Amino acid sequence: MKTRFIFPLVALAVSFSVNSVWAQEAFKIGLILPMTGPSASTGKQIEAAARLYMAQNGSTVAGRKIELVIKDDGGVPDATKRMAQELVVNEKVGVLSGFGLTPLALATAPIATQSKTPMVVMAAATSSITEASPFIVRTSFTLPQCAVAMGDWAPKNGMKRVVTLVTDYGPGIDAERYFKERMLLNSAQVVESLRVPLRNPDFAPFLQKVRDLKPDALFVFVPSGTGAAVMKQFLERGMDKAGIKLIGTGDLTDDDQLNDMGEGALGVVTSHHYSAAHPSALNKKFVDAFKKANNGLRPNFMAVGGYDGMRVIYEALKNTKGGQGGGEAMLAAMKGQIFESPRGQIYIDAQTRDVVQNIYLRKVEKKDGELYNVEFDVIKDMKDPGKAK
Ligand code: PHB
Repeated sequence: MKTRFIFPLVALAVSFSVNSVWAQEAFKIGLILPMTGPSASTGKQIEAAARLYMAQNGSTVAGRKIELVIKDDGGVPDATKRMAQELVVNEKVGVLSGFGLTPLALATAPIATQSKTPMVVMAAATSSITEASPFIVRTSFTLPQCAVAMGDWAPKNGMKRVVTLVTDYGPGIDAERYFKERMLLNSAQVVESLRVPLRNPDFAPFLQKVRDLKPDALFVFVPSGTGAAVMKQFLERGMDKAGIKLIGTGDLTDDDQLNDMGEGALGVVTSHHYSAAHPSALNKKFVDAFKKANNGLRPNFMAVGGYDGMRVIYEALKNTKGGQGGGEAMLAAMKGQIFESPRGQIYIDAQTRDVVQNIYLRKVEKKDGELYNVEFDVIKDMKDPGKAK
């Protein structure tokens, strides 16, 4: 009778001690963000969202304590890469995350591959990023998703001659290319394609050129944090009064800055995956909790990329019983996740590791004394159009 119970008891004791050693070690999530420099608002939004997710969902998953290790790369690719290396080698993080700009994600991709560490891209949005490492999973969006949606909407709404103005790097070039392709497909024209530098852009000479060309509309992509400067100069030049419509991807009317843009922004139409005004119960809860925890700050699309990125990491930890099986098991558990985000239903495509999501057409309107991107149309479950090329 006695001996029958010995083996199970020994097995239980061994597994208990292994599990307890395992559980004592925190699972570290490296979060590398631009907390200073021109993209500091991206870092602030994503950090706040990650902390909110942890406050709402606890800091222990599958019996394992979670530790967030945050690093400020200032938006400089060499710094991101060095920090990623330190996080993997010294801190032994189980996941790398963040990545506020495309060059920062691309600089880090080889580290993810070499160390077999899942890398959750919460912000950067050039289509090709997910192809830079098989360990990359993205929870933000891609510029082709938004540009294609706008390239369909604009010509159907009377904009047949359009000038594009984009920031001269990965996401801007994606936006320009996919918008133009779609316009041509719809028998409309991009009459001029202008590119402004990423660092210290001066929009004045470009906008003057647009004024002279007198297109039906100006299509803009600039990275989060820059939209207010474009809006200001567009309005100061009276371009709206000259009959030039302003359209773009939702980075232009970023929720982080929208209220400061003033009434001149009313009526601007953009395409994007997230608006703080998205009318779902889950989003309302998210926006309220985010504001409450951050002195009234409104979450933008960067915050949502960070919040959902944490969700993807937490679920993968649950499914691997606290990260057992290492980076490859975590990565496998991230692929194919499907869930309701504050932006609507999203899905991590198991093949491409990229996000599949609704893209909304939105118009800036005033609601309760504040400016919002109010959604009026949707393209459902859009995959990244860049992946088919
Ligand atoms: C990017 O660098 O990939 C990026 C940054 C900010 C945005 C969109 C894309 O708003």
